[in-house]
Amino acid sequence: MSLTQIAIDTLTRNDRGGFTIPTNGLYPYQWNWDSAFIALGIATYDPVRAWSEITSLLEGQWPDGMIPSIIFRRDDPDYFPGPSRWGKTPGDIPSTGVSQPPVLATIVRQLTSTESEDHRAKRAQVFAQIFAWHKWYHDCRTYNGIVATVHPWETGRDNCPEWNIGLDLMTVAPDLAPYTRMDNKHVDPRFRPTQEQYDKYLTIVAFGESVDWDQRRLTDEGPFLMADPNIHFVLLRADRDLLAMAQGLGKSAEVLREIEGWIAKGEAATDYLWNEDLGAFTARDIRTGTFSEGFSNCSALCFYADVGSPKQRARVIENMRRIQGQVEHLLPSWDPEAADFEPQRYWCGPLWPQMNYMTALGLSECGEEELAGQVRDGLCQAIEKSGFWECFNPLTGEGCVGSDFSWTAAVWLSWQHETKIKGAA
Ligand code: DGY
Repeated sequence: MSLTQIAIDTLTRNDRGGFTIPTNGLYPYQWNWDSAFIALGIATYDPVRAWSEITSLLEGQWPDGMIPSIIFRRDDPDYFPGPSRWGKTPGDIPSTGVSQPPVLATIVRQLTSTESEDHRAKRAQVFAQIFAWHKWYHDCRTYNGIVATVHPWETGRDNCPEWNIGLDLMTVAPDLAPYTRMDNKHVDPRFRPTQEQYDKYLTIVAFGESVDWDQRRLTDEGPFLMADPNIHFVLLRADRDLLAMAQGLGKSAEVLREIEGWIAKGEAATDYLWNEDLGAFTARDIRTGTFSEGFSNCSALCFYADVGSPKQRARVIENMRRIQGQVEHLLPSWDPEAADFEPQRYWCGPLWPQMNYMTALGLSECGEEELAGQVRDGLCQAIEKSGFWECFNPLTGEGCVGSDFSWTAAVWLSWQHETKIKGAA
C-alpha cells in the first residue's frame, strides 16, 4: 500500500466523528494545534470533513476567547491529567486551562484561499472566534509587552530543555495531590518527560485551578512565566493572516487597526528573543531575563514569521548548517551539541513533523529553497523508513513516542498534494 493511502487510513482510524485524535491510547482527546494541522491533511481528500475539524475545535472556546490545548469531550481514564484534574473550566466543554500555539488562522486562510462564495462564507463563519482568541493572547497572555507562556504544555514543546530555566525557579507544591501517570503505560518512559517535570507541570495546573482559571492572574502570578519563540512566531504570522482575512471580509477600521497594532508589537518584540551569543532566537525567562542556551526547532521560525535582520537570518542558517553536520535528519528539536540533547526523548532531540512543515515553508518563502528541501527530506525520509510516528530520532530516523500519528500523516499528505499541484502546473 502506498504511504499516501496509509496516511489517509491513519487519519480515518483516528477520526472520532467530527474531530480527530492525535493517536489512539496515548492521546485520546482533541488537541488544539494538532487539529489545525490535521485539517490541512484531510483537506487534500475531503474538504468538508477538514472543515469540521476546525469548527469542532472552536466549540471548545472559552468565554474569554481562549481556545484550550485539549478538549475533553468524554472522560477517558486512560489519559492523565484528564478533566477531573483540571477542575471546573469555563468553556461549554471540559478542557485544559492553557492554550497552544495559534496556527489556526494561518491554516484557515490556506484552506479558504480562493474568493469563491464557499471560502468567503467559511472565513466569515470563523473570523470572530479566531479574532477573540488572538485578542486573548494579546490581552491575557502578554506580560510587559511580551507574549508569554505559563506552562510548557501551552508551548506544545513540553519537555524541551528551554523550559528548565523557568522550571528550575519553581518548587513543587507541597500539597500536590498524588497522581498516577498514564503516558508511561502507553510508551517507553525513556521517551517522555521526567517525574520531576511532571510534578512541576501539575503544580502549575493546581495554581490555575486555585485562581478559578482567571487567565490574567495565571499570567501575572503563576509559578512559570517564559517567552516562547514558537508561540511568538506562530502568532505573528497568524496575526498577519487574520489581518488579510479581516481586509477581505471588509471588517471595520477599528478591527483592522487593532490587528495592525498586534503585528507592530510582535515585530518590535522579536529582538527580545534574540540570543546574540548563540546567534539564534531562543526562549527566555521573563522575570529574570535569562536566555535559553540551545538552538531548538523553533529558532528558525523567524522565516515562517518573516522577521529578523539579514544578519540574524544568516546566523540562524549558519547554526542550521552546523547542526546538519551532526544529524541524519533535520531538524532536531534540541541542539545536538547541548549537554541535555537526547535523540529519543520527546522535545529533547527528536525531529517533529509539524515543526519541519513550518520551518520548510518559511525557508522556502524567504528564498532558502535548498535548505527548505533538506528540512522536508529530513522528515520524508524518516517517514519512509519508519512510518507515521509522532516524532523521530534525528540520528537514525527511528520513530519515537506515539505511532499511527495524525499530524505526521497530515503533513505527508499536504506535501504530496503540493508536489502534485506543482507537477501539474
Ligand atoms: C501530553 O499529554 O503529553 C501532552 O503533550 C500535554 O498536552
